[in-house]
Amino acid sequence: MQPPPPFEIQLKNGQVVTVRSATPDDAEHLLLTIKNYIPDSEFIPKLSEEISMTTPQCEEWIQSFIQNENSMLLVAEHQQRIIGNIDLTGSRRKLMQHTAVIGMGILSEYRNGGLGTALMDAIIKWARANPILELIWLQVYAQNHVAISLYHKMGFVDHGIIPGFFKHQNQYYDNLTMSMRVKEF
Ligand SMILES: CC(C)(COP(=O)(O)OP(=O)(O)OC[C@H]1O[C@@H](n2cnc3c(N)ncnc32)[C@H](O)[C@@H]1OP(=O)(O)O)[C@@H](O)C(=O)NCCC(=O)NCCS
Repeated sequence: MQPPPPFEIQLKNGQVVTVRSATPDDAEHLLLTIKNYIPDSEFIPKLSEEISMTTPQCEEWIQSFIQNENSMLLVAEHQQRIIGNIDLTGSRRKLMQHTAVIGMGILSEYRNGGLGTALMDAIIKWARANPILELIWLQVYAQNHVAISLYHKMGFVDHGIIPGFFKHQNQYYDNLTMSMRVKEF
């Protein structure tokens, strides 16, 4: 399915950000952004040393969203810099191809300004228009109040918690699964 057309949004502080679908040319910058926001988020279950993706692998990753009809990757850009992304990864399994899982992250200096809401809104609209997708879902640290309040606002519902699912420096964190139907049964 066609990607959504690029659009601009104004953050709460007045900065104007462009949101558009990613192209393989974005690989180097997107990777830099991901490598930047992962270590400074306490709620992404990945350590810096585990980010092993290379630029060519990132190009392939972006290409997979272009090729797979039930997947979409959007990036947010401010002053020629990628500042965040949202990825909707459709299942490759036939019995679950109507489902897709969401991941997202934003550079810390651009958080809490409405960008997450805009990215999520765009991906939900695209998923609703997609003829294959019926259910989108995500997993989130149960302590990630900013993300959870955003997901509730957008209409996601809770499906239960696995206690102690994440373990970092001997601290346990719970994992909440949430979903949203984008088509009725
Ligand atoms: C989670 C994330 C993508 C959200 O994007 P964002 O641009 O910060 O989100 P927004 O500003 O659009 O929305 C955040 C909402 O949380 C609310 N919020 C802020 N602090 C809060 C708190 N402590 N408790 C509850 N809600 C809070 C804000 O008021 C806002 O809601 P509003 O727009 O209705 O006022 C972003 O913060 C991020 O990248 N965090 C680090 C990585 C991460 O956690 N990724 C998600 C993994 S599941």
